[in-house]
Amino acid sequence: MLVEVVDDYEAMSDRATEVVTEQIRKKPDSVIGFATGGTPKGLYNRLIDAHENRGLDFSKVTTFNLDEYVGLPPEHEQSYAHYMWSNLFDHVNVNPGRVHIPQGMANDIDEHCQWYERRIEEAGGIDLQILGIGANGHIAFNEPGSSLGSRTRIKTLTTKTVEDNARFFDDPEMVPEYAITMGVGTIMEAKTVLLLASGERKAQAMKKALEEPLTAMVPASMVQMHRSAHVIVDDEAASQFDYRHHHGIAEPKD
Ligand code: F6R
Repeated sequence: MLVEVVDDYEAMSDRATEVVTEQIRKKPDSVIGFATGGTPKGLYNRLIDAHENRGLDFSKVTTFNLDEYVGLPPEHEQSYAHYMWSNLFDHVNVNPGRVHIPQGMANDIDEHCQWYERRIEEAGGIDLQILGIGANGHIAFNEPGSSLGSRTRIKTLTTKTVEDNARFFDDPEMVPEYAITMGVGTIMEAKTVLLLASGERKAQAMKKALEEPLTAMVPASMVQMHRSAHVIVDDEAASQFDYRHHHGIAEPKD
């Protein structure tokens, strides 16, 4: 596991941009897994800049997003489809036919989840999966207790997530109670996983994910089993580590 500790959010975003850019330059038809949320926004802004000013070409890239709310159409402002198009895809030359985001409005959700898994396989698997981490250790919508072997499926959102989300919806009827999410097992099949974390709020989760025993109660701890995990954290997110991590070696702090 390659762990890089950098100064702050900006440095984390810069470094993540180098990793993603290098992947696409090395393999123009890369399959990239994308995450939503606050963490990768700096990365996405920089990828847009690399496309506009340094010729980074997305035309052959295939994308798969981690998750989506059930019941929200892609044009809904709170949908992850809307997030991806407005924060990245609308601003680069990605081929819309190569973009995959779980469909929250699918008629048969189970069938759709199986189709999503098949599409990943047919695309040759995910080369680089970008991940954020929840303060409770979740990855995608795999909350604590999720099977570490899980596949793409529908999950009930935690009461806290439903409550937190309510403020973004004018109509309480629209607040999602379910999401479609890639499973921990699906995510771990990516050839490389790139886990990003910034800020004090993530410090405890990062400590548990990297330095404590692997457990379904901290789904992100599954990165310990991955053969090519790349972690980029800033000083605040690294502040609870007992060990100093650098390039795969964990040494006790003095
Ligand atoms: C979203 C996702 C989530 C977030 C996590 C961190 O696609 O996979 O697991 O990565 O909740 O969210 P932020 O980045 O907003 O702190």
